[in-house]
Amino acid sequence: MRRMRAKEGLRRMVRETHVLPQDLIYPLFIVTGSGVEEPLVSMPGISRYSADRLPEVAREVHKLGIAGVLLFGIPEYKDHMGSSAYDADGPVQKAIKVIKDTTPELVVITDVCMCEYTSHGHCGFLTDDGQVDNDRSLQMLAKETLSHAKAGCDMVAPSDMMDGRIAYLRKALDVEGFTNLPIMSYAAKYASAFYGPFREAAESAPAFGDRKSYQMDPPNVREAIREVELDIAEGADLVMVKPAMAYMDVIRAVKERFDVPLAAYNVSGEYSMVKAAAERGWIDEERIVTELLTGIKRAGADLIITYFACEFARRL
Ligand code: PBG
Repeated sequence: MRRMRAKEGLRRMVRETHVLPQDLIYPLFIVTGSGVEEPLVSMPGISRYSADRLPEVAREVHKLGIAGVLLFGIPEYKDHMGSSAYDADGPVQKAIKVIKDTTPELVVITDVCMCEYTSHGHCGFLTDDGQVDNDRSLQMLAKETLSHAKAGCDMVAPSDMMDGRIAYLRKALDVEGFTNLPIMSYAAKYASAFYGPFREAAESAPAFGDRKSYQMDPPNVREAIREVELDIAEGADLVMVKPAMAYMDVIRAVKERFDVPLAAYNVSGEYSMVKAAAERGWIDEERIVTELLTGIKRAGADLIITYFACEFARRL
């Protein structure tokens, strides 16, 4: 009987995978204005904040031992060029400064993409006939990247999936003296239905068409290897697979082939499905979240970007 009490201890002793707060990155949606904390209907527990509300949030995230935050901006204005993406007073630029002023130890990563800033909602520059112009997109992404770097971010994470962007952004950063600023590349990013709630949160749904010309086709894994290989060759310091749950084999394949740090993005749809089922009492949320995050780590992710980060860390 007494020996039975050590059962959990024994189990822990031989456990192969542990998810720790320092493995987690917490995404944050930043809006303009002040005093804003706006709960998202399709992502229960997640809010959009104005920059002035961030000191409190950042302190809490840091206190929980979470590795860092990933910032997304919802700008005041959108235009064809997505010029608000490189506005020095934009929400992300402001947020970086506020967090670095109040919680300098917290790693601040910024998502670099045009879809939140363009009136058409695509991730790059559109020509008159509605095609994404890869090379002009790179110029805009470089402006956005540099504006985040100048505001003081610790790492940039391009999520646009344009060809050649890592080399282009690396060079742009180096030329401006940001030689030590690392790049985490959304290297294998699939054209997924799991981004649904995010597009509401970030107001970034494409006005027409889809992202299939620049994001990957879900059935492909060899292509993911090629994308990761290219991004590493172009200078990516960390690489990412996104989404996570339906792509655990991709995480594993990337892990086995490459030795750079690997992140997996446990995306909005993955989060909201769990929340919705838990609200109905159909699943045990805590156990499901632990099992999911553990599965993603066991598959090979060194870092997990997840909206569950705070609640998971709070429970530990
Ligand atoms: C921007 C971007 C998206 C996500 C992260 N960066 C949306 C998209 O590609 O449509 C999705 C994140 C999530 O669903 O949680 N390109």
